[in-house]
Amino acid sequence: MAALVCERYGPPDVLKFAELPRPSPGKEQFLVRVLASTITSGDRRVRSMDMPQGFGTLGRLALGWHGPRQAVLGAEFAGVVEAAGARAKGFAPGDAVFGIRGFRMGGHAEYLCMSAGDAMAHKPEHLSFEGAAALSFGGGTALFFLRRAALLAGEKVLINGASGGVGMPAVQLACIMGAEVTGVCSAAHLDQVRLLGAARVIDYGQEDFTLLAPQFDVVFDVACNQSVERCLSVLKPGGRLIRLQAGLTEMCRAMLQPVRKGRRVIVGTAEERPDHLEYLGDLVRQGRFRPVIARVFPFEDAIAAHRYADRSGHGGSVVITMGAL
Ligand SMILES: NC(=O)c1ccc[n+]([C@@H]2O[C@H](COP(=O)([O-])OP(=O)(O)OC[C@H]3O[C@@H](n4cnc5c(N)ncnc54)[C@H](OP(=O)(O)O)[C@@H]3O)[C@@H](O)[C@H]2O)c1
Repeated sequence: MAALVCERYGPPDVLKFAELPRPSPGKEQFLVRVLASTITSGDRRVRSMDMPQGFGTLGRLALGWHGPRQAVLGAEFAGVVEAAGARAKGFAPGDAVFGIRGFRMGGHAEYLCMSAGDAMAHKPEHLSFEGAAALSFGGGTALFFLRRAALLAGEKVLINGASGGVGMPAVQLACIMGAEVTGVCSAAHLDQVRLLGAARVIDYGQEDFTLLAPQFDVVFDVACNQSVERCLSVLKPGGRLIRLQAGLTEMCRAMLQPVRKGRRVIVGTAEERPDHLEYLGDLVRQGRFRPVIARVFPFEDAIAAHRYADRSGHGGSVVITMGAL
């Protein structure tokens, strides 16, 4: 099968195309023919080994010293189940699916295997494979952390980095949860974030949200370009700060001292959960949630797609397509 492989860390130029053996599913596994995948911030992080402060050595120990042990990147995918192991339940050959593999990656190839119980769900019928490929990473991350922060209807949430891969699903999900959303992004994406449901938008080039009076119940900090203290200052007492990127020092402090000045700091890594994907799929079926795609590249242009994804401000998911049914 054709695959895009990353054998050493670096810029998009380290990637190359290769012919790899097609994986064969175990008794409790499904073979999925991948029709679309994306280049998430997670793929870019692993490819470049650009880790938050203090995680350089840990990252290499976990992912591979000179290059990723899982040379085929691609955290999320959409495709069709081609074969099922004898004891694999829940999906059948021919089913259209989408899913996420997290650090196991593998979506940038024509085939991958998923085990029963992994984060995979049936594709919403009317949604394209390109759209379905872009559902899991941002949507799953946003849902995981908004639920961890126990966002309630009527609460006020500020999303810093509202126009990115995680921010755009976070805006939509927070609105669905009944919260009032303020989105922070560049001037270029203010209208897009408003259209997704934000009641108020802030252009980070014009206004510093950390100078606002304490008024939010939750700050979902995706961009993490401000200190924890400054983000805490806009929270009401009892408020929760979600920090999506945390260096080792910040991570340890948040674990040892999660509550500061009566406000809670939430850090960590989103879990990949099949029930979350089913929920997102249902929201798409109901017309209440949609993936936002910045650009679609054919698989043969996947290296150019990485270069495009590396540029900031693309607004939405960068999708690669492996072919049509
Ligand atoms: N902890 C976890 O489990 C987890 C899961 C997923 C992702 N992450 C991390 O979360 C981070 C963001 O992921 P992503 O996929 O959303 O990235 P992304 O698609 O690159 O989006 C970045 C966002 O940050 C915004 N931004 C850039 N500069 C800003 C500034 N000065 N002030 C406010 N916003 C600014 C961008 O806005 P404009 O485009 O409008 O400039 C965009 O909305 C990555 O570091 C990723 O590793 C963590």
